[in-house]
Parts: sequence; C-alpha cells; structure tokens
Amino acid sequence: MCGIIGIVASSNVSGQLLESLQRLEYRGYDSAGIATLSNGELDRRRAKGKLQALIDVVSTSPLEGQVGIGHTRWATHGAPSAINAHPHLSGRVAVVHNGIIENYVALKADLMASGHVFESDTDTEVVAHMIEAALASGAAPLEALKSTLDRLEGAYALAVIVEGENDLVMGARRGSPLVVGYGDGEMFIGSDALAVGPFTNRITYLEEGDYVAINRESARIFDAEGNSVERAKHTVASSAVLVEKGNYRHFMEKEIHEQPDSSQHTLARYIDPVAGSPSEHILDFTGISRLQVVACGTAYYAGLVGKYLIEDIAGIPVDIEIASEFRYRNPVMDPGTLTVAISQSGETADTLAALRWCKERGLRTAAIVNAHQSTMAREADIVLGTYAGPEICVLSTKAFTAQIVVLISLAIAGARQRGRIDVATERRYVRELLEAPRLIAQTLSIERQIANLAQDLMRSCDMLFLGRGVMYPMAMEGALKLKESSYIHAEGCAAGEMKHGPISLIDDVTPVVVLAPSDELFDKTMSNLREVIARSGPVTMITDAEGAARAPSEVRVIIVPTGPKLINALIYAVPLQLIAYHIGVCKGTDVDQPRNLAKSVTVE
Ligand code: AGP
Repeated sequence: MCGIIGIVASSNVSGQLLESLQRLEYRGYDSAGIATLSNGELDRRRAKGKLQALIDVVSTSPLEGQVGIGHTRWATHGAPSAINAHPHLSGRVAVVHNGIIENYVALKADLMASGHVFESDTDTEVVAHMIEAALASGAAPLEALKSTLDRLEGAYALAVIVEGENDLVMGARRGSPLVVGYGDGEMFIGSDALAVGPFTNRITYLEEGDYVAINRESARIFDAEGNSVERAKHTVASSAVLVEKGNYRHFMEKEIHEQPDSSQHTLARYIDPVAGSPSEHILDFTGISRLQVVACGTAYYAGLVGKYLIEDIAGIPVDIEIASEFRYRNPVMDPGTLTVAISQSGETADTLAALRWCKERGLRTAAIVNAHQSTMAREADIVLGTYAGPEICVLSTKAFTAQIVVLISLAIAGARQRGRIDVATERRYVRELLEAPRLIAQTLSIERQIANLAQDLMRSCDMLFLGRGVMYPMAMEGALKLKESSYIHAEGCAAGEMKHGPISLIDDVTPVVVLAPSDELFDKTMSNLREVIARSGPVTMITDAEGAARAPSEVRVIIVPTGPKLINALIYAVPLQLIAYHIGVCKGTDVDQPRNLAKSVTVE
C-alpha cells in the first residue's frame, strides 16, 4: 500500500506535500517523491528509503510551485529505488498511484509500440503515458484522465498534475481509498483523512469509480459514468493532534499504552453500564445461524479469539478463515451465515475481496473496523466500529484489543438474545468486561520487567509461543508481533500440539514463552511446559499469581493480574506486545515502520 497527496494552493506546496507524506509514511516507506508545477513547468524530486531521504533532497534542492503531488511507496511492481519512486512523468503529465494496474503489461506494450519510452519497471508509469497520449491527441485534461481510467484494470487511487494547468489537480479512485480535503484558498486530495489532517478536517470520501478535479476553490466530482455528482462533506476529528507521539519514543509504545483508553472508548459504544447489558441493537442475531469471519494477520487472531468466546458463550457456530484463502476455495455458505470482516484499516484488499464475494452471493455482511469511513465500512451491511483512534504504528496493538472488546460484546449479546444466559449471567459478563480497561492498565505496570526480559531474549534466532484455548490465538499473535518488530523468526503453537512435531525445535537456546492463566486448562498447559523444560528449553511463563505459585522452579515467571477468563485475551495481549516492542527496540528496529511492511495492504 502507498500514500498519495495532491495539493493546489496559493503558496509554495512542497512543504505541505512533505508534511502530508510524513502522515502517510505508515502506508509505505521504501521510497518517496514529490512533483510540482514550478513556473508552470513540471519539476520532481525523488529518493529511495525513508521519507527523511526525500526531505534531505528537497532541502538541498528546493522545489517551487503552488500545485503538486506526492507519494510514499510500498513496492509492488519494480524494486524500491529512486527510478521506480513516484511521481512518474510522461511529457506534460505527472502521476502518483496507490494500487495495482493489472493490465499494465499489455498497455505498456501498446505504448512502446507507438514510440513511448519508459524509464521505470512500475505499472504506474503506464498511466502517465496514457494520459499524455490522450492529451497529445487533443483531449482536455479531464477527458484524457477519463479515457485512461476506462482502459485500466485493477485498483488505483491516483493524483495527476499537468504542465500548464496551474489551478488543477486531478484524482480518481477504484479499489484504493481517496479523499478530497477542503481548505481556504487551497484544496487537497489524499489517501485518507490523515493525509490532509494537517491542513483541514473538512473532507469528502470519494466513492468507487469516482474521479475528481480540484482547483483552489472547489472540487468537481464525477462518477464512473462521467456524471457530475455531489458527495457528502464530513468534518472529522482533528487528526493532526491524534497522530503525534507525545512523550513516547514510538507510536507502538504510545498505542500499547493507549489501550486502557481505547478499550474503554470501544466498550462505551457496546455496553450500557447502567443497564448492565450490551447496548441495544449492536447486532440482531435473528436469522443468523452461523458467523463466517474473514480477516488477515492480527485481525485474524482477534477473530479466532472471538470464535472461541462466541461459540462458548453464545453457542453460535463461528467459522474463521484467512481472507486471502477464503474465496479461492469456493466455500460452501449457509444462507443464514453472517460474514464478519475484521480490519483495522477497513481497506485490506484480501479482506475486502472476501467481503464482496459474500455480498455478491446474497449473504449479509458486517465489518468490525477502526476506520469508520473506510471502504469496508461503506460496503458492509452492518458496521461494528472499534474506537481505538488512529493507529499509526504498522504493528496493530490497540486496534487488536478493541476488536476483541467488540467480539466479547457480541458474544454476550448473542447469548442473551438466544436465551443461553439469564439476566444475572449477562450482568456478570458485563461487569467482567467492564473490568478490562483497569486490568489492562494494571498489566502495563510490568513493562520494566518485560524490558529486562527483552535484553535476555533479543539475540534469539527463533522463539516459540505456546498456549491453549484462547491463549492459542494469543500465542500466534505474540509470534506475529515479534516477527514484525524484531525480524526474529517466531511461531505460535497450540501447547497440546507440541508433542506432535514442533517439540523437535526445543533446544537450550530457543526461548519458549508459555501463556498460562490459572484456568481449567492450566494443568494441561503445565504438562506441555514440563515437556519443554525436560528438554532444556528455556521457558518464560506468563501467568497470574495463582499460576506463579504453581510454576516449576526452572521457569522465568511474568505475573499479570488475575482477571475473569472472559477478558484474559485483553490482559495477556499486553505482555506479548511489550515483549515484541522492547526486543525490537533493543535490536534497533524501526518498530513503527518495520522493513517490508505496510500498515494496510491494499493489494492482493
Ligand atoms: C498487524 O500487526 C499487521 N500489521 C498485519 O498483520 C495486519 O493486522 C493485517 O495486515 C490486517 O490489517 P487490517 O486489520 O487493516 O485489515
């Protein structure tokens, strides 16, 4: 996924372009570039690497101009390099792009056959040449854009400037998000609200197929058929403040520590503390015989936690599938299935495609999303928002726990609606869930202990995370966090599964983290733990006070608060996130923007 910005203003825009790219860097950061119309002529600066490299280039070789576009890249076609960095130029045209043009090879061959010369290996450069070719044949800029869009296959969010057009930036979206920002005497288009957040909080979310022309005063929006349309204007929370690190070193640290608040903000939308029950109508389970969860990465592990809890408490069958696998195996879906997409960004291509696949087959759909204006939010029948606030770190933490809060709320609501629990039990569950913010905050107090543990574990080449029940998806999430934050190979494994193969990995240098709340699975988990220490595996056990009292003497113990079983996933998420964070910091990784990753993968 990449970040794009376009600005038409009454003063030099290069500083604004760079400031916007700083807010977009979480979307991709292997190269970046800006282009402006300087005295009516196209001029461009590009750099490989983090955005700072581009900032340095522009500071030594400034760019003038009141019209410009910018891009921060997560490479799909063409290696990360300056030559492949956007913007891409052809004649009078400069283009930045987020997405994948799936038919670019054929288009490029046609263009080369008619004499066009390409400099990059990217799909995007084809778009610049196509618009240039249409302009050369006499088309006006918007006509040239539209005729190009009609021939593109795949996903795009585009921003385009044209030499000689000193009061125009054009944009278009299909499959990748794009917003219009309304300033005073200046206008913006960007990948999301954060992109234009430093300049305005008045935005319009373009719809699928829309394209737009902005000048300093206004925006003209057209639908895929070329009809002029009006789209709603929104005033969004002033995100410029929400995306600062405050007194934290990294967004990851900040967002881990925000979890008492973010879980509370989400809870408040789903639980009525006075009534002691889930808020009215968070989801009407009438006619729902089964849930089908589709998600990727960390969101998938939240979904797996949800599966365990919803089936246990509400008795509703929950299937869950990694979104990128789901539709390609032609799943058999019951008509009474509710498809639930879980996604922090609401833009993940794999998850969005799975959601659309289900909608096309007449199934009801719901989306648990943190971005409430995202494509998934706009296309799902039911939106179940998380209220974690902007999550900037590429590694998902507070959105993960917020997703679990929503899923626990659904479990309680479903159980009550289906008559599986009485009012007293419902109120007990609600009381337990309302404990989560306080217990998460209490768990954060172990950070110093985790930082010391990280010093000891940071040189590991491999790590294993083990858990049973809900602690099994938590073990997989802990492994994923560590992989992302530190590049250490890690694996999450069902503790009971170790003896069926993975135990061969145990040696005296591979740390094993065992998640063991003192619940009904504790004894079984201890048996698995002992199988590990019998083979000299160095074990760190994360448990509560009762578990610690029963821990074998050979293991290192991290004690977390004793909580209701219902919310243990929320409590045990914190040490796992802190382990990943501190090991990453010890290793000097850029934990907010690890290599090869992007915050939301909007390509399949
Ligand atoms: C989480 O730490 C990862 N960055 C990644 O697995 C992420 O959860 C996944 O790409 C899904 O993103 P989404 O929640 O925005 O759909």
